[in-house]
Amino acid sequence: MTKKFYVTTPIYYINDIPHIGHTCTTVAADILARLHRQLGEEVFFLTGTDEHGQKVAECAVKEGLEPQAYCDKIAPTFIEAWKNINISNDFFIRTTDSRHIAVVQELLQKIYDAGDAYKAKYEGYYCIGCESFKTETDLVEGHCPLHPPEKTVKKSEENWFFKLSKYVPQLIEKIENDNYIFPEGKRSEILAKLKAGVNDISLSRENVEWGIPVPWDKSQTFYVWFDALINYYSATRFLEGKADFWPADLHLLGKEILWFHTVIWQAMLLSANIALPKKTFTHSFYMIDGQKMSKSLGNVISPKQLTDLFEVDGARYLIARSFPSENDSDVGIVRFKEKYNADLANNLGNLVSRVAKLGAGIKSIKISEPKLGEEYVKLIDNLKLDEAIGWVFENYIDKSNNRLNEIAPWKLAADDPKRTEVLQECANNIRLAAFHLYPIMPDTCEKIESCLNEEIKPLETGLFPRIK
Ligand code: MSP
Repeated sequence: MTKKFYVTTPIYYINDIPHIGHTCTTVAADILARLHRQLGEEVFFLTGTDEHGQKVAECAVKEGLEPQAYCDKIAPTFIEAWKNINISNDFFIRTTDSRHIAVVQELLQKIYDAGDAYKAKYEGYYCIGCESFKTETDLVEGHCPLHPPEKTVKKSEENWFFKLSKYVPQLIEKIENDNYIFPEGKRSEILAKLKAGVNDISLSRENVEWGIPVPWDKSQTFYVWFDALINYYSATRFLEGKADFWPADLHLLGKEILWFHTVIWQAMLLSANIALPKKTFTHSFYMIDGQKMSKSLGNVISPKQLTDLFEVDGARYLIARSFPSENDSDVGIVRFKEKYNADLANNLGNLVSRVAKLGAGIKSIKISEPKLGEEYVKLIDNLKLDEAIGWVFENYIDKSNNRLNEIAPWKLAADDPKRTEVLQECANNIRLAAFHLYPIMPDTCEKIESCLNEEIKPLETGLFPRIK
C-alpha cells in the first residue's frame, strides 16, 4: 500500500493580504509535500482561507460589501499568490464552502451530544485582531500586545462553553507518552501550561452573525476558531474520489496559534471521538530588519515583491534558507539580495554554467536510481530547511567547485581524459544537488537536469543573474 502524507498550513484570515509570514509557512508545507511525492508517497496538501468571524464582518462593512461578497472578492488574492510562487496544494479550502459548514455542524453536534457543551456567561476580554478570548494576564497595558489597543474589547455575553478542562489529563498523557508537539520547546511549554490548570472556553458567540449557526441554538454562531480548525478534517470528508487522508500527518503553523492547535483542536477531536493528527510543528516568526512586520510600520514584504526581485525559485530558496524554524528569523531585502548573490548567482548558478559550458558534448554518466539522502530527508521533515540546504551545498556543490578549482579543466586539452573525468564527476554532483533541491526550486532543478541529460549541453540562459 502506498504511504500517505497529509500536510496542512493554517487557513489565513481573508481580510489580510498575503505577506512573507504567510508565505514562509505555505512554502515550507509545499517543500514537504513535494519531498514526500518524490519519496513515492500519496500526498494531500491543504491550504485555504478563514472567512468567518467579527474581524471579517467588520472589514466587509468598511468596504461596503456583504461579508460573502467581500470574501469572494479577496479569496482569489490568496489563490493567485500561491500560484505565483508555485505552490502545489491539492485543494484550497474556504470556510464559507457549504460542504465545510455541514461538517462543522456535524462535528460540533457530536461534542454537544457527548455532553461537552454547556451554556454560561463569558465575562472578560476579547481581541478582535486575534479573534481570541483573553485573560487579564494575557494583556499588556490593558490590551492584547499583538494588536492595536482598540482591538481589545471587554465582553459580557451568554455563550455555549466547551468542557476543555475535562480533556486535560488525556492530553497530558498523550503528550508525555505519544507526543505530537514539535519542536521540543513547544512541547514543554504546552505541558507546563496544561499542568498549571485550564479553564473551559467559549464555543459560540452571540451577536456575531457572520458565522456558522449552532444547530441546537439558532441564536448563536460558532466561535470562529471552532469553525476554522475543523477545516483540516472537513476537507478530508467532503472531497470525493480521494483516499481517506485523516488523520493529518502534519499541521504546520506559527507560534501565536500553538494553543489552538495543540490543545483546543486535540480536545475537540477527543470529544467527538475522531483520531488525532500525528504531528504539529510550530515555527517562529520573521522579523523585518529587527522589527515586527506590521502595516503601520510599513515594512510588510509581499510574496510578489520577492518573486519580482528573485524570480519564483530564488524567492522559494530565500524563504527556505531563512525559515524561522525554532527562533525568530531576521530578514530584509538587502540581506535577501546578499544571500541570493552568494549562494545562487555566484555559487550554484556559476557552477552549473561553468560545467555546462566546459562539458558541452561530453557524455554524462548517470547514477541509475538516485536516492534522497536519509539525513537530508530527516532535516526537511524536522523543518530544519536551512540545514538541509547546507547539507546539499556541502555534499555536492562546494565539493564540485573545489574539484574544478583544483583540476582547472579549462587549462587541459579538450581530449585530456582527466578533463572529461572531472566534468563528468561535477555533472553528477550537480545532478544530485538538483535532485535534492527539487522540492525547493522545482523549475530550476528540472532545467539543470535537462542540461546534464545524456550529453552535457550548455545552458540557454544563465540560471541566476546577479542582482544589484
Ligand atoms: N486564521 C487563523 C488560523 C486558523 S488555522 C485553523 C490565523 N490566520 S493568519 O492569517 O493570522 O495567519 C497566521 C499564520 O501566518 C501564522 O500561524 C504563521 O503560519 C503565518 N505568519 C503570520 N505572520 C508571520 C510572521 N511574521 N512570520 C512567520 N509566519 C507568520 O491565524
